[in-house]
Amino acid sequence: MTTLTIPAFATKRIAKSRISEVDFNNLEFGKYISDHMLMVDYVDGKWQEPTILPFGDIPMSPAMLSLHYGQSVFEGMKAFRNKNGDICIFRPQKHSERLNKSLARMCMPEIPEELFTQALHAIVETDANWIPTSEGASLYLRPVVFAYEPRLGVKIADHFKFFVLTSPAGAYFSKPTRLKVEETFVRAAEGGTGFAKCAGNYGGAFYPTQVARQEGFDQVLWTDAKEHKYIDEAGVMNVMFVIGGKLITPKLTTALLEGVTRDSILKLAPSLGITVEERRVSVAEIEEAFKNGTLTEAFGAGTAAVVSPIAAINIHGTDYNVPAVTPDSFQQRVKEKLNNIRLGFEADVFGWNYII
Ligand code: COI
Repeated sequence: MTTLTIPAFATKRIAKSRISEVDFNNLEFGKYISDHMLMVDYVDGKWQEPTILPFGDIPMSPAMLSLHYGQSVFEGMKAFRNKNGDICIFRPQKHSERLNKSLARMCMPEIPEELFTQALHAIVETDANWIPTSEGASLYLRPVVFAYEPRLGVKIADHFKFFVLTSPAGAYFSKPTRLKVEETFVRAAEGGTGFAKCAGNYGGAFYPTQVARQEGFDQVLWTDAKEHKYIDEAGVMNVMFVIGGKLITPKLTTALLEGVTRDSILKLAPSLGITVEERRVSVAEIEEAFKNGTLTEAFGAGTAAVVSPIAAINIHGTDYNVPAVTPDSFQQRVKEKLNNIRLGFEADVFGWNYII
């Protein structure tokens, strides 16, 4: 159990729950938002007391700075109901660190880890009956911070809002994805905002992804901004390969998002008997590994997607198929291990679970 004190935040409860509208057997990602949201204002240079209120519209000015200049960052996290019936939030400390890195990059006020964790605890507890218990499902948590101040001058805002929404969610991808190595467009350049989870990184990826979809792919495999020679990420996920029996993933740069699932997999990998290499991974190396048969797995890793198998990668116009996942595949074993740790079937040796 947590030792953190959770204040009784001011709460306005919804008159009638919408939970009966949820089809818990078919939880399309992001479709349902739970009854309540938690909201915190940043005014006079400090974060104020959170309030919990029914999920719904909020008043905002069309001159609000985030709409014009993009000061908006978010996190993606998950809560589960474990085998003992306790509620568990996965790695809030790591998400708090990442959120604060994003906020600092975007000149936005950092959120103390204690406030962040209290906020998550309170909102998850409020809508605890929305936590799905079916296999592979979770309560997806979406903390967001955005500039709320109305002003047209290009400036760093002085007034922000931090809110948390929660959403019962099933699998992000329904089947293994087909990717295309992206050699025209760029997600992020080193020195830019790629490592920050800011809204603009996602908006900027829409057009290249739409083009790839029109060509019959599901996502793009992003390459470095300078030469399109090295692999960065897969769509909205980090990417990993098993080549010659080793787990290989692009090393973090300022252009890559520091995925919490990525980090968790890398920490669990040694216990599953695989050697890890975090380094630059060239497109040429992947193509060669497909040709000589040493590439046995390719998968995406992300909070929403968890571990998501890649079916095929198109490199310079040629499709290369990735071998199908089997029960012995590393990605299958690590996904199970991660799941077992979250649900309490295996020891949480790294202390990742925050139990409510
Ligand atoms: C996540 O994995 O949590 C993400 O933020 C990716 C996407 C759903 C935006």
